[in-house]
Amino acid sequence: MLKGKKIIVGISGGIAAYKICSLVRLFVKNGAEVRVIMTPSAVNFVSPLTLSVLSQNEVVINMFPDEDWSKSETVKAGTWHISNGMWADMFVVAPATANTMAKINAGISDNFLLSAVLAARCPVVLVPTMDEDMFKNKITQRNLADLKKYGYRILEPVVGELASGLYGMGKMPEPEEIFDYVKSQFIKKDLKGKKILVTAGPTRQPIDAVRYISNYSTGKMGFEIARAAAERGADITLITGPSSEKINAVDNLIRVQTTEEMFEAVKKHCKGSSLVIMTAAVSDFKPKNVLQNKMKKDKKVSSVNLELEKTVDILQYLGKNKKGFILFGFALETDNQIENAKRKLKEKNLDLIVLNDPNVEGAGFGTDTNVASLITNDAITELPLMSKYELANSILDEYLKKK
Ligand SMILES: Cc1cc2nc3c(=O)[nH]c(=O)nc-3n(C[C@H](O)[C@H](O)[C@H](O)COP(=O)(O)O)c2cc1C
Repeated sequence: MLKGKKIIVGISGGIAAYKICSLVRLFVKNGAEVRVIMTPSAVNFVSPLTLSVLSQNEVVINMFPDEDWSKSETVKAGTWHISNGMWADMFVVAPATANTMAKINAGISDNFLLSAVLAARCPVVLVPTMDEDMFKNKITQRNLADLKKYGYRILEPVVGELASGLYGMGKMPEPEEIFDYVKSQFIKKDLKGKKILVTAGPTRQPIDAVRYISNYSTGKMGFEIARAAAERGADITLITGPSSEKINAVDNLIRVQTTEEMFEAVKKHCKGSSLVIMTAAVSDFKPKNVLQNKMKKDKKVSSVNLELEKTVDILQYLGKNKKGFILFGFALETDNQIENAKRKLKEKNLDLIVLNDPNVEGAGFGTDTNVASLITNDAITELPLMSKYELANSILDEYLKKK
């Protein structure tokens, strides 16, 4: 994803600076070339040596180093603070202290990081991180508002435990969240203005007060679609059954348990959508009679009959009420796959069906990869083994071809 991208990571003097080691590692692991610049204050919080090893590059701190710096590999005498700013595709300052932001806003360049920011030709992301009172101070807020106006991209802090020991606003988002945000800045926003509804995960149908029937779906495919579409600028509603997957990017995350609850949420949120993608592996059947209390393990009884009835068919409902949106569904078939998927495409009035075979290595529930075919009324596109994130993007590309 970040292969060949050149990223400068600027670190100013906040307690969260130690977390930037993980961010640098994530960038490098994902193929980016990283240079780290630190303010002189920042070296009090994290070791330049660690950052140098992780970034595989010299870390720059001082504008005027003691040694003969014209001999340095990275350092080109005279203009190197400017050439750094020209070299990068993206410049991330995290943590961005109140002091550093105030200085950027005032055009001050009295350390190497500030000079490089002022000279940067690429987008600059600032991650403000500080004590709540510092963050809420009118001067900091004015600086932030000005910096936004100047085109700096701000990844807002979150509420959490702060260095002061207090709990409040000003905490730096975790390195994974900063990584996702930076990654999303490189992605073309070709779904901007589109409202996309995605369903994910299994559903659970209760048997009694403590038991349920369900399936092995983890929700990964739906979450990857939501993530990829959000990165491409779409406005996402994600309705998910029980899943341990995490996501930050969506505008509206709705958690449900049963197929009926998912149905109600889908009915409510499909209106006004441009695209609805049903990846959820909903339970097709549910126990006819749900016991209020736990079913006792009676010694005299050796077996129990569980009578099941059909649950509501969400895809059928959407196909019949398809007004103003394109509808994509998923099929998991173990036999007569193409034939069954094509029948489902027609019966449910879908515009595309994604067929996956759980018996193929690397496909199906819980894996990071999938092997799928994209089937429409006119064509079958067989895709090779790919990550669920890549498959998500291929599915979204199909939507752009249809609209
Ligand atoms: C233990 C400690 C933690 C600090 N954490 C922060 C912080 O999270 N955010 C912030 O804006 N300033 C913080 N400061 C204050 C900055 O280090 C100080 O304003 C410094 O001048 C910033 O310099 P710089 O912006 O050039 O890195 C902290 C100071 C100390 C002593």
